[in-house]
Amino acid sequence: MSWEAVMAPLLTRLLIRAPGTSLLLVRAMSSSGFLINDPKYAFLKELGLAESNKGVFNGKWFANGEVVTSVCPANKRPIAQVQQGTVEDLDSCIKAGQEAWQVWADMPAPARGEIVRQIGEALREKLEPLGKLVALEMGKIKPEGIGEVQEYVDICDFAVGLSRMVGGSVLPSERIGHVLLENWNPLGVVGVITAFNFPVAVYGWNSAIAMVCGDTLLWKGAPSTPLVSVATTKIVASVLEKNKLPGAVSTLCCGGADIGECIAKDERVPLVSFTGSTKVGKQVALMVQERFGRHLLELGGNNAIIVDEDADPEMVVRAALFACVGTAGQRCTTTRRLILHETLYDTVVDRLVKAYGSFMPRIGDPLEDGVLYGPMHSQQGVDGYLTTIEEAQALGGKVLFGGKVLDRDGYYVEPTIITGLPHNSPVVQRETFAPIVYVLKCTSVDEGIKWNNEVKQGLSSSLFTQNLANVFKWLGPKGSDCGIININIPTNGAEIGGAFGGEKHTGGGRESGSDSWKQYMRRSTCTINYTKNLPLAQGIKFE
Ligand code: UN1
Repeated sequence: MSWEAVMAPLLTRLLIRAPGTSLLLVRAMSSSGFLINDPKYAFLKELGLAESNKGVFNGKWFANGEVVTSVCPANKRPIAQVQQGTVEDLDSCIKAGQEAWQVWADMPAPARGEIVRQIGEALREKLEPLGKLVALEMGKIKPEGIGEVQEYVDICDFAVGLSRMVGGSVLPSERIGHVLLENWNPLGVVGVITAFNFPVAVYGWNSAIAMVCGDTLLWKGAPSTPLVSVATTKIVASVLEKNKLPGAVSTLCCGGADIGECIAKDERVPLVSFTGSTKVGKQVALMVQERFGRHLLELGGNNAIIVDEDADPEMVVRAALFACVGTAGQRCTTTRRLILHETLYDTVVDRLVKAYGSFMPRIGDPLEDGVLYGPMHSQQGVDGYLTTIEEAQALGGKVLFGGKVLDRDGYYVEPTIITGLPHNSPVVQRETFAPIVYVLKCTSVDEGIKWNNEVKQGLSSSLFTQNLANVFKWLGPKGSDCGIININIPTNGAEIGGAFGGEKHTGGGRESGSDSWKQYMRRSTCTINYTKNLPLAQGIKFE
């Protein structure tokens, strides 16, 4: 008898949440079937996780909300349980975060950088077990799970350097004996709401930078990856404790949409960083704007690779495979549209279909070595995949590869290639968070650029070319309108050093590297008069 058949009578509630956050809530679960008790998953205990975990941290671990069971997407078995927070629990996190800020904001930025350096070290020590937990709970393959923790480590390194570099400017004043300068100060408690697909890295980008800037953090991860949120917070908390700092520098409140909404509406949270769907992001943005808070949005993408006539087909196929199929199509940077110049359309499509075919034996348990493709994260993802394929076919699309759910225990679907649809077909124009790529045939790079830009989203884009003129056209004012514009590399897999984010319905936010730190601070323009006279600007005489 399958695990589900045994457990079915015990399931008293099934709750489906907003897109991207589907979750099986199981009450009154018997403890026998939890993966955490299986020696194969001993790394979970190395992370300080137990069969039953508290999902709120405000310096102490506690929780008064719903108990949720985290389910492994590769086999639909329960991993362990987490008790979520209530609205009152959230309130106590915000209060504690404000108190901790009193201490944290007084510390010199390089001293905060030293704490972030230690967090990076602690993450390095737990790189393997935390990466494996990401694979187990999110469903991405182990190297990508570890890679995600590595992104957090990398941004810690970046933030340590930044802690000695953030600074304002001294500007020329038009008045004698005056100094005009810009000064940057922390905001206070920064709310970070993250999605299931990058349950560690996105929190890492936000928190490492916000911490050196002098903010304290309030995190709500995706309701379906609560174990990653708890394990990551334990690592950060251990460093704060070792340094005798308040744990509430980094608070956590696991929960669902109710907690997210409270964060968005709370005046005590001056900045809300939100990663997720465009639909939910818009609601968050409006709630935050309503109270004149700041928002930082990382929403949907509909990313294209354009292939010029002089591109190397072999390189294009390798890049497309990673960009379309990697993470089972569940990156916001996944390539969803492959726009091929007509001269190499047949060659690339043939090779791509062959590459997908030879890739099939690499489908498996994300934790196993050699596996390159795991399950989708949830049934909701599978449903979206199936609905879209059906709609694409009804619109005249041809499924050239894949298109079916795989006969395995977990949420596995075939990576899918669809041809024959016009560039402006409704399915091509929207983001389906699944491993489906639409292949389009264009007659020129100019036409490809037009199609790249005609969708609502504006996250990532890539052009494969050797033509210098097309390179600069692509980067210029009439080129790609995305936040990420690549050449001869895939649309996904950005490094942390640059600012990450996109335009239009992607939300406009920028986080991670470059000068994204400015989002986490407030700027004041300060004019200082060091004379005994009082000249007014613009030469105004008021006497
Ligand atoms: C996301 O999918 O939300 O560029 C983030 C990438 C990763 C980050 C993706 N570094 O694909």
